[in-house]
Amino acid sequence: MAEAKKLFIKTYGCQMNVYDSERMAEALGASGYQVTGMPEDADMILLNTCHIREKAAEKVYSELGRFKPLKAANPDLKIGVAGCVAQAEGAEIMRRQPLVDLVVGPQTYHRLPAMEAAVRAGARAVDTEFPEEDKFEHLPKGPRAKRAPAAFLTVQEGCDKFCAFCVVPYTRGAEVSRPVARLLAEAQGLVERGVREITLLGQNVNAYHGGGPEGGTWGLARLIRELAQLEGLERIRYTTSHPNDMEDDLIAAHGDEPRLMPYLHLPVQSGSDRILKAMNRKHTAEDYLRLIERLRAARPDLLLSGDFIVGFPGETDQDFEDTLALVREVGYGQAYSFKYSARPGTPAAERKGVDDAVASERLQRLQALLGQQQRAAQDAMVGRVVHVLFEKPGRIAGQMVGKSDYLHAVHVTDPRILRGDIRVVRITESGPNSLGGVLV
Ligand code: SAH
Ligand code: SF4
Ligand code: F3S
Repeated sequence: MAEAKKLFIKTYGCQMNVYDSERMAEALGASGYQVTGMPEDADMILLNTCHIREKAAEKVYSELGRFKPLKAANPDLKIGVAGCVAQAEGAEIMRRQPLVDLVVGPQTYHRLPAMEAAVRAGARAVDTEFPEEDKFEHLPKGPRAKRAPAAFLTVQEGCDKFCAFCVVPYTRGAEVSRPVARLLAEAQGLVERGVREITLLGQNVNAYHGGGPEGGTWGLARLIRELAQLEGLERIRYTTSHPNDMEDDLIAAHGDEPRLMPYLHLPVQSGSDRILKAMNRKHTAEDYLRLIERLRAARPDLLLSGDFIVGFPGETDQDFEDTLALVREVGYGQAYSFKYSARPGTPAAERKGVDDAVASERLQRLQALLGQQQRAAQDAMVGRVVHVLFEKPGRIAGQMVGKSDYLHAVHVTDPRILRGDIRVVRITESGPNSLGGVLV
């Protein structure tokens, strides 16, 4: 048998890209590739890129530059760019960086094997179409090897919301939901390979409306309830959600579906109604706060996470104060905050931006507040009893690291713990980035 070719994939951006990288590795696996962690060994390097902020996109070009010596050392090395920068910039990437052999968008990676064959034959290949066929149906079935205990499953992709700052509707295309039967089969396959927790992914996952097995469409809550029946699947999460798609049955599921974990990432972006309007978010700060109230009524211990943008065009000091006020009112367990980055092709990119120094100062203040809240939420876990799904060995001998129901990293040193175990743990300490505990 010929020696397997080696594939090195580097993934940027959101969890959807993490999922896609796994699928691309499976697709190329059928062409004889094995994944390596070392770019020096690779016959093919793929960068799965993110276009969400300017810095993210620029990173791709500097990373590509660094592969130059590798290509000089190994003329057979092929370099590909996948993901959202590939979608947004297409063939431009090849012009800017001649060492790139292949550019593949997020909707065509099932065509990678054919593209790989073409570049092996000396061609350069670009495919950033939004094809009619469903890429998921055209992917080879992966090896039946054992999987890590926590896995992602893409259920919905794309976005029709068109927030004024965001590239996702352009890079990922219109909202598409995968059919229920396919997802149940894929989830079943994951469970058979050792998966105990599935995070359902979508750019707007709670807008999920997939075709049901007996006709009609299912919403996300119904899908979650069905998945919760799968024997061996202990935990379900979903991300990312939009406040306007948080329907009654989904809120209810947080209260009555024990396998749905008490953690929710629900971005609001700003606490100012003026800015929310300018962002085309189609909800007010008050709408969001009332929604949080309803969620907490269903599940009082729900840990909330959010995304924020500061320095959006037109943001005044008062608008920013409104954001701080909303954050104080909600009390986040976890959050991501960003300085606004103008993205070519989006409506907000045409508008006059906020002074950069002002935006930086706002970001610092917001991050200080969010940091305090995150710290407080983590410290409040000390003394509590949680469930932990153990995923991998820790740094100390005999130590295992996993995630609590609330998605906190937890480490426990106890030789009885095996990878994939879900154990009851009493939290005894709160460190810089993780909790420590003992088995109960
Ligand atoms: N679909 C998700 C998030 C997608 S992008 C949602 O609707 O919430 C992830 C986060 O990146 C966004 O929530 C937003 O906070 C941030 N983001 C998106 N575009 C940005 C931009 N142009 N500048 C700065 N941050 C941005
Ligand atoms: Fe982007 Fe808005 Fe769609 Fe989220 S909802 S992906 S922020 S356009
Ligand atoms: Fe980035 Fe594309 Fe995800 S732009 S955040 S990788 S959808």
